[in-house]
Amino acid sequence: MPTRHLFPALADDFVFLENAGGSQVPACVADAIRHHLLRDCCQLGAGYPASDRATATVERAHRFMDRFVNGEGLGRVVLGSSSTSLLHVLAHAYAATIEPGDEVIVCEQGHEANIGCWTALEARGATIRWWRVDPATGSLSLDDLADLLSSRTRILAFAHVSNLLGEIVDVAAATRLAHEVGARVVVDGVAFAPHRAIDVAAWTCDFYAWSTYKVYGPHMGGLFGRFDAFAELRGPNHFFIPEDELPYKYELGGASHEGCAGLCGLAPLLGVLADHPAGVDLGADDCDRPTIEAAFEAMTALETPVQARLLDRLSAMPGVRIIGPGNADPDVRVATISFVHDRVDPATLVAAARDARVGIRHGHMYAHRLCTAMDIEPEPGVVRVSAVHYNEIAEADRVCDAIESTIR
Ligand SMILES: Cc1ncc(COP(=O)(O)O)c(C=O)c1O
Repeated sequence: MPTRHLFPALADDFVFLENAGGSQVPACVADAIRHHLLRDCCQLGAGYPASDRATATVERAHRFMDRFVNGEGLGRVVLGSSSTSLLHVLAHAYAATIEPGDEVIVCEQGHEANIGCWTALEARGATIRWWRVDPATGSLSLDDLADLLSSRTRILAFAHVSNLLGEIVDVAAATRLAHEVGARVVVDGVAFAPHRAIDVAAWTCDFYAWSTYKVYGPHMGGLFGRFDAFAELRGPNHFFIPEDELPYKYELGGASHEGCAGLCGLAPLLGVLADHPAGVDLGADDCDRPTIEAAFEAMTALETPVQARLLDRLSAMPGVRIIGPGNADPDVRVATISFVHDRVDPATLVAAARDARVGIRHGHMYAHRLCTAMDIEPEPGVVRVSAVHYNEIAEADRVCDAIESTIR
């Protein structure tokens, strides 16, 4: 079921098509944060009523996020300020375990958040190997990955979806290959998570990061890790906190309490999308896995026609080159669509969209290495139009009209 009415920011005439940078927030998320701050804003575990409520909120958010990624019983979700910071914490924990000869595979296609923290392990004696893209398409090959893997590989880090190309990588297949040689797999799921349900149980990857502020929630990040993978590491939190006290051992200073309240506030949104009988009254503890999956299936169904319209119109414009798959199949890509024009520069096109009251952006999107590999100047980079489930075909048409008239 459509959910535009739940997002106050969408009531305006302005069109948000910069969702890969950050999504809008439904009122239920904002209300949950406000409620927490005005009623339950205190330290956890002190034993008085407001503290008990705050403790329950933080625990509920963690349980909900474990279910959100389908990781219940397999591992825990660590919450932090961003995916970048969580991946750095993880890489730092791995740094202490690196021995000379260990190899780390990083992927040229991804956002720098899941690259730089791993290449830094070179200073600890690791050898860095690059999973390179096809320079013409930006795509990856599993055969190339198989050639890089060996018994020396400790870690494979890559993005599930490139935040520039929108292309979906086969996480299960890449994980299978890496696990055959005993490597750990760290997936950046930031550009996937706003569009499809995360399923770490099906994919069997060891770590999976995403940004909750791109999935209709507060500005935070989540990192799922499997119990057996965490067991190889020492978490960074204080020495008197036991290693098996997950996720707290990795949550320096704890997770944002009001952010946790906001995460619980996602349940009504999912309830409406999934047509759950409780609808907007659905609580986080009652938002079960089938509801989460149904909600994301509804998002995919809402987003796919908008994705098709954007691709159809943009690819038909003279001089436009889509950077990423031209195929609108939702199994191949999400609605994060980048392009360049052979004559008009990206800044001019973004300004034309802004004048038509549409927010998009241009640049390298922190996929700096991908741009270089594809021979695209990181600045001004590409123009990126990114839709999610609440965008409409009329909005796709508005941005396309603005771009088309500028190109002419
Ligand atoms: C694919 C991808 N990975 C990682 C990040 C970084 O996320 P965060 O802002 O939570 O650190 C982004 C942000 O745009 C992204 O698109």
